Order: sequence, then structure tokens, then C-alpha cells
Amino acid sequence: MARPVIIDCDPGQDDAVALLLAFAAPEALDVLGVTTVAGNVPLALTQRNARLMVDLAGRRDVPVFAGCARPLVCELVTAEYVHGQTGIDGIEVREPEQPLEPRHAVDFIIDTLLSHTDPEGVTLVPTGPLTNIAMALVKEPRIVPRIREIVIMGGAMREGGNHTPSAEFNIRVDPHAADVVLRCGRPITMFGLDVTHQVPATRERIARIAALDNPVAAAVAGMLSFYGRFDSRKYGMDGAPLHDPCTIAYLLSPDLFETRACHVAVETDSPLTRGHTAVDFWHVTGLPENVHWAHRVDADGFYRLLTARLDRYSAKT
Ligand code: BDR
Ligand code: CA
Repeated sequence: MARPVIIDCDPGQDDAVALLLAFAAPEALDVLGVTTVAGNVPLALTQRNARLMVDLAGRRDVPVFAGCARPLVCELVTAEYVHGQTGIDGIEVREPEQPLEPRHAVDFIIDTLLSHTDPEGVTLVPTGPLTNIAMALVKEPRIVPRIREIVIMGGAMREGGNHTPSAEFNIRVDPHAADVVLRCGRPITMFGLDVTHQVPATRERIARIAALDNPVAAAVAGMLSFYGRFDSRKYGMDGAPLHDPCTIAYLLSPDLFETRACHVAVETDSPLTRGHTAVDFWHVTGLPENVHWAHRVDADGFYRLLTARLDRYSAKT
């Protein structure tokens, strides 16, 4: 049976690719809904961009919800300098046909967790700041045992930060929300920069996707070509790390990744290191393991999976 998931995101080109990858695997992932949050760009744009991906994939059976417009405590910081003014520069952006659901994303998450009948519960896949997930945990603690796993893109250990010297963007935008989520007591698997920096979308990999010759693959190639510009300069490498699709790739093919059980905590106070994830990789604190921390990936296998799944859209069009 397909695993029930809610994808909570802030598209963002890499969030968009994560959605398109998930939508291409209906036999494995039952996407119950897409919830959106402010992050890469403001909420009005992230919810629109998620609806555009639903249109593009021909998956209008998937409802899209808007959630929190700002982090719990901090001021919102956005990343147009990476993603462009629309958040998904690199494709033509228009008003989607898929309507926005009237319910708040946090209420959708709560209602779905409480009512879903899968005995194993529902998996949450946040690929943006963790504001919606933390709000749901705070508003309705009865959801906790109904969460099967939280599969997060966020954090950094060996790679250092990408937004500040010590903090990764998603955790830095809402460190207080990350703190709530990391303490929730359910299984968490985390894909931070240590692993996402191992999967750059090189020109050759993008060309292989472009060669699939279907509209979804063309959109992915367009978005990734734009998205690569900033990071290629920043890191001096060919292409940008394809962060968010690591979460979906793990759900589809966990053997691509190596993870290690660790205690992970987030810095919320220090102005210098706010959003830093303290990953106890060597178990020096004796604190309980709350995260499976991804630290290695089969990058070629990851791109084989992504490309093969995007090729499924060729049959549909
Ligand atoms: C994360 O921040 C955003 O720019 C990306 O969408 C990804 O979720 C990487 O730090
Ligand atoms: Ca994201």
C-alpha cells in the first residue's frame, strides 16, 4: 500500500522538484496534501507555486493549503537571491488552475493525522522552515502518536551553514519551530547540507533530464538551470545542491542514503549561531538519539531515480 504523506514546503525550485518526484510515484507515496509555508519567498508565492506544480504534474487530486506567513518568533527572511523573484524562476509562472483550499494548513495537518486510518500513521515531509509542523504539534498534541516519521530537509554539520556561517536556511528561518519538532519524540530523519551538497544538479545531469522530452522534465530542467546560477558561483562547482528531493528519494529508495542515529539540538538564542544544528555524530553527550542524520548518498543512484521517475511523465503526455 502506498505510504500516506503530507509534504510541507516553500517552493523554491528544489521543493518544486521534490513535489514532481513524489507525484510521479503514486504506487509508493499517497500524497494526502501539500501544505505551504513562508520561506524561500513569501507565503502568497509558495502556495501559488505548489499549485502550479500540481497543475504541471496533472495531479489535481492533491489539495494545496496555505499555512503560516511568518516564523514563530523571528522575522521572516526570504531567499530571492537564490530562487528569483517568483521562487521558481526558470519557467513561465502564471496563475494556476488548481484552487487554494480554504482550510489553514495547520488544521489540515491536524485533521489528517487524527482521522487517517493507516495503523502506522502518516509521514510528514517538511522541506521548508518548520513553522507549520511546530504549530500543529503545539495546537494539538494528540497528533504526536499518529506521526509515523518526520523526514526533514534541514540542518548542517560538517558543511557549515549556507545562510549564516553556522546555520542552514530552513532551520535558520525558524529555529524555534525546529526546536519544537526536534523534541517531539517521533522518529525523525534529517537531510542536511552534509548530504545535499553531495548531489549537485550538474549541467550533464540537467541535460539528461531535458532529453526526456516531456513538459514536466522540461520545467525541471528550466528551473534547475536558473537555480544553479547562484550556487555554482558561491561554491565554485558545476550546479547547485538539490536539497529538498533528497527527502522524497529517501522515501522511495532508502538504500541510497547512509544515516546515523544521533542527538540533534538547535541553537535558538545566540545571535551569532542562531539556527545552528548541534549534531552529536560521535555520541559525546550521552543525550538520547532523536534523529537519523543522513551523511552519505549514492549521487548517481539518486539522479538515476529522479530521471527515471520524471520519465514517467512522458507516458502521460
Ligand atoms: C533549503 O533552503 C531553501 O533554499 C531550499 O529550498 C532548501 O529547502 C536549503 O538550505
Ligand atoms: Ca525548501
